[in-house]
Amino acid sequence: MALTRLYLLASLLATAISFRAAHATIPEGSAQELADDDFVVAISTASSRLVLAQGTRAYRAGIRTFIMNSNETEIPFLNKVYAKYRETYEYFPDEEDPDPKRWHAKNPGDFRAAMAPFAAHRHFGNTYKWMLYGDDDTLFFMRGVQQLLSNFDPELPLALSDNLWYETGHPRLESFRCLPCGFNTSNMPAAQTDTGYTPRAACPYCTRKDACPPSKPSCAITGAHGGAGMIFSVGLMRQLDLSYDAALACMNDLRHCSGGDCLVSQCLWRAGYGFTDPGFSLQYTQPYDHVLFDNMEARWFLKSPIESITMGNCGPLCRNVIQHAVSYHVRGKSFPSFAKAAAFMYGLTESYGAAIEFLALQADRGSRGVAAAVGGEEEGGEGGAGGGTNGDGLWEAEEEEGKGTDL
Ligand SMILES: *[C@@H]1O[C@H](CO)[C@@H](O)[C@H](O)[C@H]1NC(C)=O
Ligand SMILES: *[C@@H]1O[C@H](CO)[C@@H](O)[C@H](O)[C@H]1NC(C)=O
Repeated sequence: MALTRLYLLASLLATAISFRAAHATIPEGSAQELADDDFVVAISTASSRLVLAQGTRAYRAGIRTFIMNSNETEIPFLNKVYAKYRETYEYFPDEEDPDPKRWHAKNPGDFRAAMAPFAAHRHFGNTYKWMLYGDDDTLFFMRGVQQLLSNFDPELPLALSDNLWYETGHPRLESFRCLPCGFNTSNMPAAQTDTGYTPRAACPYCTRKDACPPSKPSCAITGAHGGAGMIFSVGLMRQLDLSYDAALACMNDLRHCSGGDCLVSQCLWRAGYGFTDPGFSLQYTQPYDHVLFDNMEARWFLKSPIESITMGNCGPLCRNVIQHAVSYHVRGKSFPSFAKAAAFMYGLTESYGAAIEFLALQADRGSRGVAAAVGGEEEGGEGGAGGGTNGDGLWEAEEEEGKGTDL
């Protein structure tokens, strides 16, 4: 019996992988599917980390990418050799002031990281709908990205993330931010309403006024987490207050930010825009389990989705997270080498793709005729207020164990 089941799983897995190879990764029926050319990617890196920036090809094959690098001499070569990957390289120096106290943020490369999205827009102009912006070790899960963006209009000025700093932590439900226009806020979980700040739905997009509590109209934000990534609409990036020159002037005016993400967030804020939290996590009683951008609680199974499934460790919560996750911060420095971190990016992207197809196949019991054998578990946790907050017993136990193996 156990053997039969294993065999079935193995053949299903093989089918899932070949199925994936033959079809686009987006399931049929998602109405507003975005094409590769609707996206651009903006990344900043340094010479020593170039292999990481290039490792993100794992998820962005076919998508135009803008990469800012620290070494000017390398730029012509990089542009010539890697144009075939639709990559454009540009130079931006490290902080040049010998006194770190006068830098704009903590690390010498942070200013470059912060300028990357604005330089990318200067380069691409209005030729895209959405810009994916992250560190050189941020992976986006494109199916999750597609699902998320089908709810938003790129013509509006939108900055999206649900991994926002508050004081020195992230993600935090205390962060000042908006929820999407039309979001039903009447079912907000206690975890959110207990923070003393309840974000509001902003129409048509998030301004400072919408993001700040009515009692604190001139509040300040800390911003989104760079490693978790952010998604910007073309409607945001083409604002005159966010042109390359305007962003440069804004950032030159800032000092002692915690990182490039802080500089970017502060300049969006100065231009009048707050972050929109997609609000997905707020449909659940345990919001942190359902964060879309670099979900730290789900890290243990998100780092190897297909393995979690084939080992039988993927309960309803795990499946829900895999189906909706938007990004994953690889944390290049936690690997023995950047090259190994880059290899992991390819592995994770494949594993994620296989997991998505496997779950689709598992849900489609009718065409397999094996309802009782593999698909016998209750499908649950899919959307709905308060749903999906508990995995099965096995997953819960394993999660504890997984705590120590965080990357
Ligand atoms: C920049 O790249 C060039 C060409 O690869 C190399 O010769 C040079 O040492 C690099 N400079 C720095 C500061 O890394
Ligand atoms: C929001 O949710 C509440 C509670 O489930 C429901 O009664 C209400 O009709 C919803 N509002 C809208 C506009 O859907």
